[in-house]
Amino acid sequence: MTGTERPETTGLYTLKDYEEAARVRFDQGSWDFIAGGAGQERTLAANLAAFDRVRLRPRVLSGAGAPDTRTTVLGRSWPAPIAVAPMAYHTLADPEGEVATARAAGRVGLPLVVSTFAGRTFESVAEAASAPLWLQVYCFRDRSTTRQLVERAERAGFEALVLTVDAPRLGRRLRDLRNDFRLPDGMVPANLTSGDYASPSAHALTEFDPALDWSVIDWLRAISSLPVLVKGVLSAVDARAALRAGVDGIVVSNHGGRQLDGVPATLEVLAEITAAVGGACPVLVDGGIRRGADVLAALALGADAVLLGRPVLHGLAVAGENGAAHLLELITEELVEAMALTGTPSVAQAGPALVGVEPEVTPAPSAVWSTPAAGLRKAELHGSVSDPVLDTMNFLNEVTTRYPQAISFAPGRPYDGFFDTEQIFTHLRRYLDHLQAQGASPGQVRSALFQYGPTSGQIRELIADSLRKDENTDVAPESIVVTVGCQEAMFLAVRALISGPEDVLLVSSPCYVGITGAARLLDVTPTAVAERESGFDCADLEAAVLAERARGRRPRAFYVIPDHSNPSGTTMPLQTRLDLLDLAQRHDILVLEDSPYRMVSPGRQLPTLKSLDRHRRVVQLGSFSKTLFPGARVGYAVADQTVVDADGRTGLLADELAKIKSMITVNTSAVSQAVVAGMLLAADGRTSELNSETAAYYGDAMRVTLEELAKQFPAAEREALGVCWNEPTGGFFLSLTVPFQADNAALIRSAEEFGVIWTPMSYFYPDGGGEHAVRLSVSYLTHQEIADGMERLAHFIKSQSQTARG
Ligand code: FNR
Repeated sequence: MTGTERPETTGLYTLKDYEEAARVRFDQGSWDFIAGGAGQERTLAANLAAFDRVRLRPRVLSGAGAPDTRTTVLGRSWPAPIAVAPMAYHTLADPEGEVATARAAGRVGLPLVVSTFAGRTFESVAEAASAPLWLQVYCFRDRSTTRQLVERAERAGFEALVLTVDAPRLGRRLRDLRNDFRLPDGMVPANLTSGDYASPSAHALTEFDPALDWSVIDWLRAISSLPVLVKGVLSAVDARAALRAGVDGIVVSNHGGRQLDGVPATLEVLAEITAAVGGACPVLVDGGIRRGADVLAALALGADAVLLGRPVLHGLAVAGENGAAHLLELITEELVEAMALTGTPSVAQAGPALVGVEPEVTPAPSAVWSTPAAGLRKAELHGSVSDPVLDTMNFLNEVTTRYPQAISFAPGRPYDGFFDTEQIFTHLRRYLDHLQAQGASPGQVRSALFQYGPTSGQIRELIADSLRKDENTDVAPESIVVTVGCQEAMFLAVRALISGPEDVLLVSSPCYVGITGAARLLDVTPTAVAERESGFDCADLEAAVLAERARGRRPRAFYVIPDHSNPSGTTMPLQTRLDLLDLAQRHDILVLEDSPYRMVSPGRQLPTLKSLDRHRRVVQLGSFSKTLFPGARVGYAVADQTVVDADGRTGLLADELAKIKSMITVNTSAVSQAVVAGMLLAADGRTSELNSETAAYYGDAMRVTLEELAKQFPAAEREALGVCWNEPTGGFFLSLTVPFQADNAALIRSAEEFGVIWTPMSYFYPDGGGEHAVRLSVSYLTHQEIADGMERLAHFIKSQSQTARG
């Protein structure tokens, strides 16, 4: 047959005809390689048999008219619910390989999933294609190989990634083993650069990552903006896990029966999977689809589309591009016929009734489609769960676990070396003795630990005492609410102060994600007041306040970390503090002051805003996490503002915060409060004394970091490269400007190739910004780790700068 001859003129009318015609075009080894099987026959046969068993219910006089086979998948309209499955080496079937397949698929407008093991380059396939291309991804032990494949495909215009999840290794294909199947000379995967590919199964065994888990989805998201589907799901349990991992689509597949023998036919599990997914993402299915009626059966059981595998290779082998295009036309025509004879006007209307299951009848428990499970759409959950702000920290944790050898400047964690487990008991005992000394009976002491406690907290006197001694702040214990970490204090303050859409929360930007995250949970969109290079400037806040007023909105509060800020490391000068309090008074706003790093920074600190506050403009959000005990999760809010109700009765803002708290955490853990109280008692309320050693330690860590930075980037080089950093006098963080986009992709490269982790500063900008900066945390590393980490960071920055320039 020549390239232009219409295959049907040679008597090829079905996919089966193509299979028979193709058979003679392959040598035994290649045929067996394509067929797979031998050892996997049961699954292979089960796929075909499952479709053979389906009896579509014809409908007469349905008035449906000409069926419409169009469907939409991931926002793209396809002329029929069919795409070409990823298959290695189309070049075995036709010398033009995937280039011919792409042209064929383009002719009929159907998508092609290109295998990691394609015989032609992604770029050449993309050039030939006119319909969507997706990339099938195998994840290699060497992640950089996978990353480079993905980046190339994305650059070439591929529209989605299909991660094959059923192949931690390729199944033992007995026929290949018996034939000692080797790929023909010169047939190499066109998109991979190294490795011994001649024996596909052996290669897979050495190169594939056998220990993949669902975190790989986050990893793919970090290196690519393309939607991610998983291929190889065969159970509702895994489908739900895939949804939790945030996939954009699921392919129900048993690899065409080429992997493990004895697993279910895909059609057998399809209904339980589509029920579990409940429309939350598209579900595709493959394996044994050989007729238009099979496509319709899959749609009836809830699939959005099917993938067609081996038949396409048969078409290619018989007549190259023409053969593959004709074969795709044939199956589409058969689908039209099947839809017409079953009275199915459109793809969306194909339902279980078509295969003899009436949707309104409760299915028998033994039926394969009988286990509908609740599938939730993420889009229907509160928007915060899809908000990148709430994902950033998960992503950082994920990167840190994935690259355990890397030195991490990311987490703002206190240094572990000062913790002493035994001391917890001593502190607890001290507090109980203190209660007893205060006259509490044994029963009262017992209740203080075991019972629900007062919502506002039971150690408020001790906190007030500590604030007086350490911070020169005189507040009544009644104006304090003890919270579950400072995070709860932020949540309470935002909830209480922002009463409607016209109320405005202003935040200094870059901004700690805890406050933007809390605001997001409460549907509050903060207004960012950008810090200048020199730090926060009152003029910018005033301009923002006036702009909001001009828009008819009501600025209520401004959140700021005045001392050694997270993330930028800046500290607000004394005059700015005074100006800010004056501004707050003039414009009738509150200041939410968050200052967790003061006591763990060396030297004398400037006075807190609260200690300078003469008009009760400051709500202080406090934390013992950096100073005493992060795991205890004890923080507090000082809210001594007066609140007047409609009848003129007055109370304190702290009382209102406690009301809200009573519906969130009821009370802060009594045991945690007791341990923190014991610590405060040990130093007679002076946390500053308890932290003198710690503050010196962190001060040294910052000094070493700055020295190492200066060593790695001598002044002249620094300037030439465009690298600079600030020099905080305390706290955990500093800000480093780099001459390239410091995004997730750069972070992954840094971790993977250079063994060093940092936080993209852009995470901390509510309105965008900081794309060329990183946050470095110095708090929990040893000096040696800082030195090594800086060296690695310098290598990364120099290499990445070159890539960005070149
Ligand atoms: C495959 N398949 C496959 N799957 C995948 O995820 N990556 C790959 O590289 C390949 N390679 C491959 C090569 C060959 C020759 C075959 C036959 C199959 C599996 C493929 O995507 C699909 O799941 C099945 O082929 C579908 O079954 P049918 O339509 O071939 O019965």
